[in-house]
Amino acid sequence: MKIFIDTADIEEIREINSLGILDGVTTNPSLVAKTGKPWKEAIAEIVTEVSGKPVSVEVIATDVAGMVKEAKELSRIAENVVVKIPCTEAGLEAVARMNNEGAGVKTNVTLVFSPLQALLAAKVGATYVSPFLGRIDDISYDGMLVLEEIINIYEVYDLATEIIAASIRHVDHVRRCAELGVDIATVPYKVIKQMFRHPLTDLGLERFLKDAQAAGITI
Ligand code: E4P
Repeated sequence: MKIFIDTADIEEIREINSLGILDGVTTNPSLVAKTGKPWKEAIAEIVTEVSGKPVSVEVIATDVAGMVKEAKELSRIAENVVVKIPCTEAGLEAVARMNNEGAGVKTNVTLVFSPLQALLAAKVGATYVSPFLGRIDDISYDGMLVLEEIINIYEVYDLATEIIAASIRHVDHVRRCAELGVDIATVPYKVIKQMFRHPLTDLGLERFLKDAQAAGITI
């Protein structure tokens, strides 16, 4: 499973990228706004920091022509830009239009909450589709169940669009994503940090070091 980080914070991206486990970045307008930086500056820093790895950047327009125009502008920023497009009728038409004209824009259909939306995203040739697990849980439905249904449909029809499990809230979401074999999980910084930790690792290391010291072991 590929691991993306879901943030626009350059320090968080830099730290996790240096750990050697990062495959890409997803941002959205809310995450970029949180940085307090001018939009262009924040995006330029990120695409350079993780050069060669996909970085999702979202359009603001909501009509087809506006989304296509913004998508083309965004994808000119760097070769690793993936354009996030909302899963509306206009959004899917924009993705279809760009693919039909061979615009070479990589797309991530976002704000996906049902298997049928995911099916339509694949039909228009989206590069990625992002079902939002946590936000589905928030309305008292089961985000993991929706994800499983999407994976099953994609397998049955051998669809090429890659699935990004998004809106991840805790480590158990990540574990279950890996068990289901999802292509990618985009994970917030705090949850990535928690994935490294286990109390028995700390305890075991403490004991090993104590014993090594007592035995006078040096390397
Ligand atoms: C996905 O690409 C989105 O940026 C993100 O996962 C949304 O998560 P949230 O529901 O925690 O805001």
